Amino acid sequence: MKMTTIKQMTLLVFFCLWVWCCTDSNKPTEGVANIESKQKAFTIEAKMDIDTLLSRFDKEVVHIGYDFEVKKAKIYLGVNSHKIFSSLIRELNIDSSKYDVTFFCKDGYSPTVSLLQLLERNGYIVTKDVEAKDVWEEDIKAKFAPAYLVWDIPKNDHKHAFPYGIVQLQFIEKATEYSLAKPRTTAKEPIEGFALFKDKCIKCHSINQEGGIMGPELNYPKNITEYWQLEQIKLFIKNPSSFRANTKMPQLTELTDAQIDLIFKYLQFMTTQKIVKND
Ligand code: HEC
Repeated sequence: MKMTTIKQMTLLVFFCLWVWCCTDSNKPTEGVANIESKQKAFTIEAKMDIDTLLSRFDKEVVHIGYDFEVKKAKIYLGVNSHKIFSSLIRELNIDSSKYDVTFFCKDGYSPTVSLLQLLERNGYIVTKDVEAKDVWEEDIKAKFAPAYLVWDIPKNDHKHAFPYGIVQLQFIEKATEYSLAKPRTTAKEPIEGFALFKDKCIKCHSINQEGGIMGPELNYPKNITEYWQLEQIKLFIKNPSSFRANTKMPQLTELTDAQIDLIFKYLQFMTTQKIVKND
């Protein structure tokens, strides 16, 4: 046999061995799959699964001085939001001043939280109540699982959202955020009303199908001002439980009458702007 043929045959044997090794079904592949799913690449456009995201980090014990949702001090297991978002910013090469983050919850609540706020060191995404017998206290388990965003902040701070039952999150570019819900006008009142609506209402209500789905859509196809008596809308916003027992809409006591008026002006303006994504 010629030398080159022997070389070729040896190479062939090695090649076959290599192929066999890689396809051997008895080989433990679970470890490999695990690493892959942990490092699954996220993209700036797509929604990220909360469990996949959190599986990348070690959980720590978190002491919350006053938890706004359960109204007492709490100890949880979770990950600091600064850790999560600074790592995603590096990975996705994001300019942190240009983006916000929308959290998607099981009940349709979907608040948008400023990325800069998430980079402060007092927020945590938690997955277990350390003091509970099970993962969560029995009465709030259905609500809080799989994850809850909690802040260690003073009692009088109203600038933070506490979404629970978080299943996904997504980066959203400030410049294009809610572009269909934004009033296309230079008039002052609808613009100011929209700023308030974005801050207080859009996490639960959509306009032109942009926003949360916990409460009803308020513009498309029919605007709320086209089928509710105008004064009643304002009264409802001011005190929902004076209309409906057990309403899921909270009373937003911090809103003044003048602010409710502005929100109303915005809603009314939107009768002239009915556009949705697939139109
Ligand atoms: C935490 C979620 C949440 C927030 C925040 C919220 N709402 Fe609601 N809203 C609801 C839900 C849920 C309903 C459905 C009716 C109910 O449960 O009584 C509702 C109902 C309404 C209705 C009556 C519509 C109908 O036909 O039922 C109006 C108008 C309304 N909301 C306006 C607002 C405005 C304006 C804001 C902001 C100032 C706001 N809501 C903030 C959840 C919310």
